[in-house]
Amino acid sequence: MVATLTSLLETMNRLQDVFTTVGVSADSMNLPQIVVVGSQSAGKSSVLENIVGRDFLPRGMGIVTRRPLILQLVNTDEQCSSNGVEHMIWAEFLHRKGEIFTDFELVKQEITIDTERVAGNTKGISAVPIHLKIYSNSTPNLTLIDLPGLTKVPVGGQPEDIEAQIEHLVLSFVENENAIILAITPGNQDIATSDAIKVARKADPFGERTIAVITKVDLMERGAETMNLLKGITLPVKLGLVGVVNRSQIDIEEGKTIKEALDHEEKYFAKNHPNIAIKMGTPYLSGRLSVILMGHVKKCLPGLRSRVSHLRGVQEATINDLGKTIDKKGPAILDLINTFCEEFRCVINGNSTNI
Ligand code: GDP
Ligand code: NA
Ligand code: MG
Repeated sequence: MVATLTSLLETMNRLQDVFTTVGVSADSMNLPQIVVVGSQSAGKSSVLENIVGRDFLPRGMGIVTRRPLILQLVNTDEQCSSNGVEHMIWAEFLHRKGEIFTDFELVKQEITIDTERVAGNTKGISAVPIHLKIYSNSTPNLTLIDLPGLTKVPVGGQPEDIEAQIEHLVLSFVENENAIILAITPGNQDIATSDAIKVARKADPFGERTIAVITKVDLMERGAETMNLLKGITLPVKLGLVGVVNRSQIDIEEGKTIKEALDHEEKYFAKNHPNIAIKMGTPYLSGRLSVILMGHVKKCLPGLRSRVSHLRGVQEATINDLGKTIDKKGPAILDLINTFCEEFRCVINGNSTNI
């Protein structure tokens, strides 16, 4: 599902085994949330969908995303059977608990229906989030948040202070220190006046957790200006700036799949920007995210390490106390812990080179 987040998934799964062995809850990992911000129709929903690798978000011109969508990807080995068919991937909404969605077209419809139920069927927005969980064995445990677009001018009955309302809403998510901000600016707009960058800087002035994403690179003129932008010269961003090509409105209407879109994106950069192609596109963006998330995982490891050596000490003491009466059980536990320590070292060392 999230093909380019697989290295993160593998690490998380190995850690998960380790957690289970020592009886620590994996939730203590507290992975950051990935939040998209940007002006209306910048391509926020499109970027999220491409990262997840599934069509499930309503997208389009004008204000489509009118409530925050908190998307929790859940790693599970379970399958879900519905009408006698086994599904490897399925979705569930908090507001329709117990109801299993296996058709992602229906997921999209339900987002629209519930948006209208709470925020009305015109252009109003609501700060009440929609909670959606997607279960699969091929996704890391990760939370992604889609937000309404920043806007300047009230349209179609929106209140006069709509700009401030949306900014307030967006800030409430990105001010969270645990948020990784994807600041999305369309390539056909001046980055110097980008709302996404402006809001990201308010919440993260030193750029410690902001990645800049330039969408609609296919609509930019080729030339020095574009090159300087994509190389991060025009606007240096500490964690990087990545250009992407998502599906256009026509692509969506014609039913172009995400896979086709990703293929097209790869070819687009190879053909039009060969010098920088390896640092462009959705897979590279996902890779950057993976690295940043892995850095976070690493930060959590020292706490885990001390817990492990503590447990090891306790087990050894217990075994010494009980002496030979637990001859059979004792070594097994020690083996387990030793294996764990070995595994733990591998996880740390295995990833230390790319962080
Ligand atoms: P959001 O309002 O920021 O969530 O933006 P959407 O993801 O809904 O996209 C808005 C419109 O821009 C849709 O019609 C998309 O098809 C289109 N779009 C998004 N990204 C790109 C891109 O990279 N290239 C082109 N040509 N169109 C895009
Ligand atoms: Na839109
Ligand atoms: Mg949207």
